[in-house]
Amino acid sequence: MYTQEMLPFSSVVKRFVTFFVLFLFVVTCVGCASTRKTIVKITPQEFTFPKSFLWGAATSAHQVEGNNTNNDWWEWEQTRPAQERSGQAADEWNRFEEDFKLAQDLGHTAHRFSIEWSRIEPQENQWDSKAIDHYAQVIRSLRLKGMEPIVTLNHFTLPLWLAHQGGWCSQKTPELYARYVEKVTEALGRDVHYWVTFNEPGGYIYKSYLIGEWPPGLKSPDKALVVFKNLLLGHVLAYEKIKSIYAIKGWKEPMIGIAQSVLIFRACSDRSLRDRIAARFRHWMFNHLFIQALINGRAYCMGVFSVHLPKTKTLDFIGLNYYTREFVHHNGFGFPGILGDACTETKELNRRTGKNNFLSWEIYPQGLYTFLKDFSRYRIPLFVSENGIATDDDTERTEFIVAHLKAMVQAMKEGVPVMGYLYWSLLDNYEWAEGFVPRFGLIEVNYTTQKRTVRESARVFEKIIRCKRLWFRKTYSH
Ligand code: BGC
Repeated sequence: MYTQEMLPFSSVVKRFVTFFVLFLFVVTCVGCASTRKTIVKITPQEFTFPKSFLWGAATSAHQVEGNNTNNDWWEWEQTRPAQERSGQAADEWNRFEEDFKLAQDLGHTAHRFSIEWSRIEPQENQWDSKAIDHYAQVIRSLRLKGMEPIVTLNHFTLPLWLAHQGGWCSQKTPELYARYVEKVTEALGRDVHYWVTFNEPGGYIYKSYLIGEWPPGLKSPDKALVVFKNLLLGHVLAYEKIKSIYAIKGWKEPMIGIAQSVLIFRACSDRSLRDRIAARFRHWMFNHLFIQALINGRAYCMGVFSVHLPKTKTLDFIGLNYYTREFVHHNGFGFPGILGDACTETKELNRRTGKNNFLSWEIYPQGLYTFLKDFSRYRIPLFVSENGIATDDDTERTEFIVAHLKAMVQAMKEGVPVMGYLYWSLLDNYEWAEGFVPRFGLIEVNYTTQKRTVRESARVFEKIIRCKRLWFRKTYSH
């Protein structure tokens, strides 16, 4: 009985062992296959940057120089009690040597800065040779330190005399701008190869003429359209002027572009067709319209505007200023209602990354990849002309930089021609309507003593610059 009972037991054991071995075999195979699959997916790839790749940071005159008393922003600051004043800012007018030395030590090979029109032409048709000499020294200092100057000719501010005669609403302004550009090019062009005619024309029109947050504080769709046309014309005239001066002087042909602000726009609710239309429209108007107009020499929107420019193809590169993603909901079908309204909460909250900067801007590195791929359709070299984070936590800055560089590198690996990457900003600075509180700098500025302290994130950035290589994973798809 005992023996009889033993036999079935041993066969059960045998069966169990066989089953277990089989089970292990299957699990191992499936496991291996899936591991292999995962390994393929997650294996980091190495990317080596081209030798000519430009690395650095950007600033703008009014935000760092200090005492730009003769422009529309200064006047705006004095007349708005709630507005923090730029005052001495980062005192860059006097400290550029010291700051460029820090940038050089951090391995930077390029630096983007802007020329303050109100210093060059303090009164209509009066030119300040000392101010011109100052910028010549700025450029010389960069060159001596091995940094390529990338010169922005207009970064939001206007001379007071011009603002008082209508600024970009005036039909005369494109010609006046071209005359200022001519002066600057004649004086400084020999040492400059990259020019940015305008910083973020779309953002400027929006803030200054549609929502009235910046000078001249207007909420006028009609004026916004006039400014849009005048900025386009101003760019074309400046482009022609710069090119012709270089040709006459026999200087090497320069590259001229704009710094375009790009924001990812998504519908607040994916289920709402109206929200999706608003997001698409905003995307076209804010991200692409200006660029397309300069490439095609015309811009058209049925019933809203029709612009014809004297020249096509006036962009040698496109600068992208990329920071964040926004959600938009429907606000009517007229203009500007069609652009929708930004909503801070989305109905599908899980779509947000959950990480915001100090100004509550969502941190969304994928957007940089998306835009580089998207803009590659123009077949014009691209430049990341601004990308940065306002934060009091420098670890976040390091993560931000690395994540965005990886997104950029994935696009480059897929063939997108990117000429350089400029972090915003070299220094903490005056963040327009937000004043001095947001800290964007690779270098901290103590505004009481003007002492500079290099942040750790700047060192991490330096390591990447110096090693010219980056490991990344293929994370995003277009
Ligand atoms: C502008 C800078 C600004 C930065 C951060 C860009 O839109 O060009 O002037 O400081 O964004 O807001």
